Amino acid sequence: MNDFPTRNVFPHTAAINAQGRLVLGGCDVMDLAQEYGTPLYVYDEETLRRVCRQYREEFGSRYADTRVIYAAKAFINVALAGLLREEGLGLDVASGGELAVGLAGGMPAAEVYFHGNNKGGDELAEAVRGGIGRIVVDNLHELDLLEEVTQEVGRVQDILLRVSPGVDPHTHAYISTGALDSKFGFPIETGQAEEAVRQALASKGVRLVGLHCHIGSQLFETEPYVEAVRIVLGFAARMREEGFQLLEFSPGGGFAIAYTRDDEPPSVATFAEAISSAVKRECEAQGFDSQPTLVIEPGRSIVGPAGVALYTVGSRKAIPGVRSYVSVDGGMGDNIRPALYQAQYEAVVANRMEQEPAERVTIAGRFCESGDILVRDVDLPATEPGDIIAIPASGAYCPAMASNYNMAPRPAIVLVRDGAARLIRRRETYQDLMAADVV
Ligand code: LLP
Repeated sequence: MNDFPTRNVFPHTAAINAQGRLVLGGCDVMDLAQEYGTPLYVYDEETLRRVCRQYREEFGSRYADTRVIYAAKAFINVALAGLLREEGLGLDVASGGELAVGLAGGMPAAEVYFHGNNKGGDELAEAVRGGIGRIVVDNLHELDLLEEVTQEVGRVQDILLRVSPGVDPHTHAYISTGALDSKFGFPIETGQAEEAVRQALASKGVRLVGLHCHIGSQLFETEPYVEAVRIVLGFAARMREEGFQLLEFSPGGGFAIAYTRDDEPPSVATFAEAISSAVKRECEAQGFDSQPTLVIEPGRSIVGPAGVALYTVGSRKAIPGVRSYVSVDGGMGDNIRPALYQAQYEAVVANRMEQEPAERVTIAGRFCESGDILVRDVDLPATEPGDIIAIPASGAYCPAMASNYNMAPRPAIVLVRDGAARLIRRRETYQDLMAADVV
């Protein structure tokens, strides 16, 4: 099979066939576009399963007591939850909605961790009643709510406390979460984390089993994790005087993926080595009798590289001496990331994979906003209406953050494997757009 310059950002099975077309999971993407329409999100099952196994193996071989829970916010649906379960992963959910989808997909409640800085009383009650594995408590209001809820339900709930270690992870400000000035978690620096540990230990409704931190997302460096491990485990050691025993520790998720040909994120093995050795080292240094269960929460790095978005080329606007816009049938409604985070993507013309670039264009979405640009200044072969543009590394936080802006039905999603495609989410219809309207 021929290789191409953006190979690194495509799923493992990506190839080019004799017609010069992009193939994913053995399926010619032109056939997929024909059958399911566009915009279409295509997930390569082999890539998905391979990354799940990598996480379990690379962490598990270095730190046997590791639990890998997938961060559902990156993208969840009923079929995907089932697949993740088959691969032995648990789930990190950020809402009652994510929890419901995970459970519907067969994820056992005991394998679910519930996150969020403002979980509602009803959500908490439902989670506790349903036997959720852990609630990751973010603030004292939540601890109070849990006290009431657990009494009502008559169950003692295992919890982690989310602490904020005050580490700068060097990522986009909107996805940086571990610094002191963040809405998430109890800061260690200010004494609030200590207070939370005391209150949790005094509570009858909860059992404090450990600590969690998540310092940010799309992190290319291992150092911030090592730093966070050092700070949080140091804090845990100090809390022993209060009667706290660290049974579980989670440094969160956030592992970077490649979006562009030049991105070179560390491998799963590199993150696993850095984090597991830091945990062992700190446990030793702090004189812990036993090492805690290590819980990691990858989201983006599991689904991101597996997903490719397909769009059909429509109109074009060439502004002489300025730029040429090529418009496609999706955009910020299905991928808000360029507009929200200035995220960069690669793009290829899926039916012209062997043609040399002929022009530099900007790929514009179809939404009624100037900021609706998917990819700026990309070199592509000459395109015509009806060509299919594929944007790789689109599996994370694209369908998950999709909206019905401009009343656009959200795209269909297929899973491809061994030459067969399985529809795991149908395209929304106009009826769906009105389904919740009350006249
Ligand atoms: N754990 C917690 C507590 C989190 O808050 C997050 C992400 C994760 C795990 C998973 O992080 P990941 O491995 O996916 O980087 N919408 C943004 C990303 C927001 C991330 C929020 N929290 C984006 O499109 O880049």
